Amino acid sequence: QEARAAQNERTFIAIKPDGVQRGLIAEIISRFERKGFKLVAIKIMVPSKEFAQKHYHDLKDRPFFNGLCGFLSSGPVIAMVWEGEGVIRYGRKLIGATDPQKSEPGTIRGDLAVVVGRNIIHGSDGPETAKDEINLWFKPQELVNYISNEEKWIY
Ligand code: PPS
Repeated sequence: QEARAAQNERTFIAIKPDGVQRGLIAEIISRFERKGFKLVAIKIMVPSKEFAQKHYHDLKDRPFFNGLCGFLSSGPVIAMVWEGEGVIRYGRKLIGATDPQKSEPGTIRGDLAVVVGRNIIHGSDGPETAKDEINLWFKPQELVNYISNEEKWIY
């Protein structure tokens, strides 16, 4: 039962407007999928500036807050919830360091982005933010519970 609960950990991942415009949707999804994580919610939407401000509310005192919110609301975003053991922490590892100048090759930002203001993807940074961000972007009925065929080989 405990093992089950661990496997049900969920995180919020968004492909930002630059990732969508650059045609990186499939590439990014594929990295999470091949790792063995499970996609349980996905949609495409253009967030309003107000919505972006809610998403980034923790950063409201930062000098880049306005630019960051303007950027997130500048075009379509792919909003997703991914599930799996350790997905919050390991998802951040797949994504790589915030500044693509510092992220390692092999990570999404290390391989696919150059500057921090256009770092193509967002991932929740902990269990509390994961819960808050999933609730902000998705209604409960948009999250799908299912067993994938591969799970018995992943766990
Ligand atoms: S910090 O400084 O540790 O709070 O920053 P961090 O938590 O790594 O980043 C929070 C989000 O702010 C974005 N960010 C920036 N955007 C534009 N310009 C600058 N200089 C900048 N610095 C940080 C960063 O990409 C994070 O957004 P998400 O969407 O979570 O990646």
